[in-house]
Amino acid sequence: MEKQNNAHLSWDEYDELRDPRPDNNAFDAVVERAVSRRGFLGGALAFGSGAAVMGTGLFGSASSARAQGSTFAFQPIGIATDFDIHVPQGYQWKPLVRWGDALFSEAEGAYSPENGVQNDLSDRVFGENTDGMETFVDGDKIILAINSEYANPDINLPAETLGVPQSAEQVQILKNIQGVTVLEIADQGDGYQVVVDSPYNRRITHETQMTMDGPADGSDLVRTDADPEGKSPKGTMNNCGSGKTLWGTYLTCEENFNGYFGTTGEREATEGEIRYGIGGEGRYAYEKFDARFDLSKEPNEPNRHGWVTEVNPLDPQSTPVKHTALGRFKHENAEMVQANDGRIVVYMGDDERGEFIYKYVSNGTWAEGQPTDGLLSDGILHVAKFNDDMSGEWLPLTPETTGMDIPEMLVFARMAGSKVGATTMDRPEWIAANPLRVEAYCALTNNKNRGVKPNAGGDETPVGGPNPRETNKFGQIVRWRPTGEDHGAPDFTWDLYVMAGNPGVYDNKYAGSNNVNEGNMFNSPDGMAFSSDGMLWIQTDGDDSNAEEFKGQGNNQMLIGDPKTGEIARFLTAPHGAEVTGLTWSPDRKTAFVGIQHPGGSWPDNVGKPRSSVISIWREDGATIG
Ligand code: FEO
Ligand code: CA
Ligand code: CA
Repeated sequence: MEKQNNAHLSWDEYDELRDPRPDNNAFDAVVERAVSRRGFLGGALAFGSGAAVMGTGLFGSASSARAQGSTFAFQPIGIATDFDIHVPQGYQWKPLVRWGDALFSEAEGAYSPENGVQNDLSDRVFGENTDGMETFVDGDKIILAINSEYANPDINLPAETLGVPQSAEQVQILKNIQGVTVLEIADQGDGYQVVVDSPYNRRITHETQMTMDGPADGSDLVRTDADPEGKSPKGTMNNCGSGKTLWGTYLTCEENFNGYFGTTGEREATEGEIRYGIGGEGRYAYEKFDARFDLSKEPNEPNRHGWVTEVNPLDPQSTPVKHTALGRFKHENAEMVQANDGRIVVYMGDDERGEFIYKYVSNGTWAEGQPTDGLLSDGILHVAKFNDDMSGEWLPLTPETTGMDIPEMLVFARMAGSKVGATTMDRPEWIAANPLRVEAYCALTNNKNRGVKPNAGGDETPVGGPNPRETNKFGQIVRWRPTGEDHGAPDFTWDLYVMAGNPGVYDNKYAGSNNVNEGNMFNSPDGMAFSSDGMLWIQTDGDDSNAEEFKGQGNNQMLIGDPKTGEIARFLTAPHGAEVTGLTWSPDRKTAFVGIQHPGGSWPDNVGKPRSSVISIWREDGATIG
């Protein structure tokens, strides 16, 4: 499209947002004008200026100096296309723990470059495909809880299987290599290392005994032949993003659980199975070797997964708890904050095209030192509605608003969200709350179906609001500020912090917002976390072909965004093939731990199989990095 010199959004344009024309989406038009300001501003940012009045501040003032990375304490790095990690000058990195590394001395040598992990020790080593993680402190001990999202059968199984398990034993290794790892780390003067045989070390797999709480606990929907009372689910799976409770426990979030179930018999899919993508053949053929994963034998087993699950990493004997009050969907992460009156608030995204953003609010309140009973089992789940006028509201899911009973409403939260008219989003990934301001950010990673087809429940996915581009291949980050600076408020205002894009290829809305330039561009924002200094760290999981519309974007990466100025700078590039996911810090904030999932080549060993790993990053001068 032709460039225009619309330096600022006029009140007329702002009014247009409130009254869009049916065949010419006004928000879309505004986005196009905003992006076209690139030329006028010489590449500086415009979107999400951090102006005091969000909404009118969408295209606030900018200085070209900000585009040069001037406010960050590092020199931003260029793209990479190799099979290595790159960090800015003055920083160092090394692997902390790799897939197959021993947690216990009995498992030393369980991994070999030729064969991967030995089957009988596969639950005694660090899991594969690292994802969300959090740091915990117990006296002078430092403990990490780390998700392993899924297994790569091609890497874990013998080559002749072609990645399809041929026996119960082969299913077992895939079950063991996923889930959660709890491990102690210590720095003996040469950087952090795993403390092998620490009493904190623990693996939580698809077989670990769990309990449930909340309204769906024991309901008909979660009863199975193996657990007729519906109170003793086994295992957690597809552990994606994470969260940390205010009282110091770990939240592991079950995302694409649907892929673990299949059917060996004839079966007509139910409405709930269709909405959640359950049926047919499972991803790992579990159903052929374990009746628990066979829908024709245990049709309710999938209802016991897709929850936020709480783990106490400081007590290796503790039983994880699945919190049904927080709803069942493809959970990305769980960002806990507190309402001004002390109620617990948990923001959560459901990562599928056209699904929703949720907010749980406890009925009870909490303060440091008080009991936590009921805080994650007694509350109201809400779903987000974003209006084109940049306002929004949290719609409560109740029997009155949904016509569903409470257990059904939670087990089939997506269907409840559809009934109240939630906004279909461009794949909500991580949500991160700013520690210095009452606002939250959600990465909407991409959505090739935006404006093309409805979600799995038949809800339309119109172009507009926080999802302003059809066939959205690049993604964007939406943020909201609750009314009255209170996360407990029923409504909010929102804007887009950044719209990713490629200004080297496009000169339209697919070029991205004005805080994207050829020096910092990326696609598919996914992982996000704030550091204590109020900077937003953004991790990507996108197309790393470095070709066509992604030309010039290179491998996946981690960037830092300044919420106030909108400035974004590239901090790390991943090995080709990998996504960057999971970020936490040492208690002194001098080391950042970053997850590298599904790397290519033979990273990081330069021999044998690629090994998903958590790496440590530190500054050579010993200063803090967040
Ligand atoms: Fe596991 Fe949506 O990423
Ligand atoms: Ca993710
Ligand atoms: Ca992703």
